[in-house]
Amino acid sequence: MTSPILVTGGTGTLGRQVVLRLREAGCDVRVLSRRTHGAATDIEYVTGDLATGEGIEAAVEGTEIIVHCAGSSKGDEDKALNLAQAASLARARHLVYISVVGADRIPVVSGVDRAMFGYFASKLAAERVVAESGLPWTTLRAAQFHDLLLMVAQQAAKLPVIPVPAGFRFQPVDAGEVAARLVELALGAPAGLAPDIAGPRVYGMADLLRGYLRARRKHRLMVPVRLPGKAARAFRAGANLAPERAVGHRTWEDFMAERVLHEA
Ligand SMILES: NC(=O)c1ccc[n+]([C@@H]2O[C@H](COP(=O)([O-])OP(=O)(O)OC[C@H]3O[C@@H](n4cnc5c(N)ncnc54)[C@H](OP(=O)(O)O)[C@@H]3O)[C@@H](O)[C@H]2O)c1
Repeated sequence: MTSPILVTGGTGTLGRQVVLRLREAGCDVRVLSRRTHGAATDIEYVTGDLATGEGIEAAVEGTEIIVHCAGSSKGDEDKALNLAQAASLARARHLVYISVVGADRIPVVSGVDRAMFGYFASKLAAERVVAESGLPWTTLRAAQFHDLLLMVAQQAAKLPVIPVPAGFRFQPVDAGEVAARLVELALGAPAGLAPDIAGPRVYGMADLLRGYLRARRKHRLMVPVRLPGKAARAFRAGANLAPERAVGHRTWEDFMAERVLHEA
């Protein structure tokens, strides 16, 4: 019997796809989740919480490879620390982490920066935890997933007038393509900081929203809003983009076409 690969966040948008691909590659998979899951066919679920530390020891026991996809808008450095400590004690041989493009380029210095972009600082702090864990590691920084931008567009479309952060651009990437790369990295030798992964095209925020509204046959007024702070300035300068790493294939239009068909 081979040791199972632990996927934290294996119930999330990215993690579900990672689990699927690991299963396709013939790997045994264990998923850590805060919720209990019924006895699934071929996936082992362990209940635990990376924020409190509860259940992590049991989750890492007997695993050699850990793919850390669990995350939320706050506190990812604490989750990474709890996981890394348990993984070290369990003598894991590869800790794989998913971070975000621009984590090292978006300065989060003021209260305003923290309120709007604290996520990026927390991803950078989590990256450092992984790199300094003493374990062999790989970190992949991905651009925003289509799913995230769809959620933003769906929320925005509920407003009669949509405020759009002026100068913000995105390079949306398919979560399935990120998952495929993450699995490739997880099954390979620890690589440290891997080259970024981003989608095939860069879009203005307003264009992304327009694409969604058009597909939903909705009309909304959009008002540009200039966000304050250094982090917002870095965003306007494209710190969240990786045009030289436009390796994803699926475009926002492809994704929209499929999702809107399903929504209709
Ligand atoms: N979304 C993006 O555009 C994007 C871009 C770049 C990088 N990333 C990174 O990719 C990762 C996955 O993102 P996603 O969009 O797939 O997330 P998601 O769909 O929101 O899923 C989050 C996952 O994290 C787990 N989780 C959250 N808090 C946890 C805790 N305290 N203990 C254990 N598990 C916890 C959840 O599991 P349960 O609810 O089952 O406990 C869930 O499976 C995150 O690290 C995120 O920062 C995302």
